[in-house]
Amino acid sequence: MNEPKFLQTLAGTRFPTPPIWLMRQAGRYLPEYRAVRTATPSFLELCYTPEKAVEVTLQPIRRFGFDAAIIFSDILVVPDALGQKLWFAEGEGPKLEALAEPADFAKLARARLPEHLAPVYEAIRLTRAALPRQTALLGFAGAPFTLACYMIEGGGSRDFAKVKGWAYRHPDSFSLLIDLLVDAIVDHLALQVEAGADAIQLFDTWAGILPEEQLFGWSLEPMVRIAHGLRARHPKVPIIAFPRAIGPATLMYRRPDAFSALSIDTGLGAHWAARELQPHICLQGNLDPLMLVAGGAALEREATRILDKLGHGPFIFNLGHGVVPQTPPEHVAQLVEIVRNWKPSNT
Ligand code: CP3
Repeated sequence: MNEPKFLQTLAGTRFPTPPIWLMRQAGRYLPEYRAVRTATPSFLELCYTPEKAVEVTLQPIRRFGFDAAIIFSDILVVPDALGQKLWFAEGEGPKLEALAEPADFAKLARARLPEHLAPVYEAIRLTRAALPRQTALLGFAGAPFTLACYMIEGGGSRDFAKVKGWAYRHPDSFSLLIDLLVDAIVDHLALQVEAGADAIQLFDTWAGILPEEQLFGWSLEPMVRIAHGLRARHPKVPIIAFPRAIGPATLMYRRPDAFSALSIDTGLGAHWAARELQPHICLQGNLDPLMLVAGGAALEREATRILDKLGHGPFIFNLGHGVVPQTPPEHVAQLVEIVRNWKPSNT
């Protein structure tokens, strides 16, 4: 049988309609997710119990028949595996015991990652076995800069003053943290591929807080090193990069030597992206998650506009960021219909 449409698209094949999956397609907007989540003491326990992680990974595939599943886990399992205490405060998001000074790096150890994250790899093995053949399975990791943000801030932040203070004042020591993360992420991704992940997405959620001059060193260059490191072990695995909210600086990320596709956020114009990026690299994106909340005619108009602009080149339909909890599941079904029934015009 042919490879999944999602993987063929990443390899350059064009189909009459693009493949579709959604960031955060598993989550609180689905009643069946909330049922599993309430029956589990903590979010991390959900991530580390393979049978449960498999179940919530498969839920959106059963409901909507997306072209790709993404393994249910979190980007913060990497700092957790390195030995940094992590917990999810109910209703408050992630919390970590913040790294306060360079000496704190000594607490982090890459060696324990494979064993600590064994349940994630087991979940990938079981999910791949349970998925239909035509559905691709994505593994993922947070990019080093985004992980460093959470590790130094101790959670989310409004101004990211601590991580920026560290990176600007002590770039040499910040580099050491980035280097450690590059190596740990390559290990984590290689183990996901060995367990059965068909492709990888790298989330640089907070790249957009950096001045353009710092983007190369702290976001792009570490992601390229990860891509090259992973390819040294698994030459063929497709890699999607998501440097969020960086505007026209996305031009720097047209790096087919490293990335198979770029995931673009809602702030990037589809017309500009079609002209400046798509001739060089496959794109993924970029519907506003709040359009999916709105639904109806507004959703139809906006999804069709994106398809008309980007659907003629190598393209994977997705959101510009993750599905939000208040999304009505019927609107997701509506979106899948719109994408699958789209008729390319002759322009
Ligand atoms: O369906 C999927 O996308 C798979 C699973 C997935 C989760 N997190 C599950 C999750 C993925 C790919 C992520 C990535 C992730 N995690 C990112 C990068 C993508 C992005 O959104 O920018 C980031 C920054 C995180 C860190 C994180 N995890 C935050 C900030 C939060 C709290 C916000 C929230 O929505 O509550 C989490 C928790 C989290 N990760 C939840 C889910 C489904 C919600 C927790 C719950 O169910 O109680």
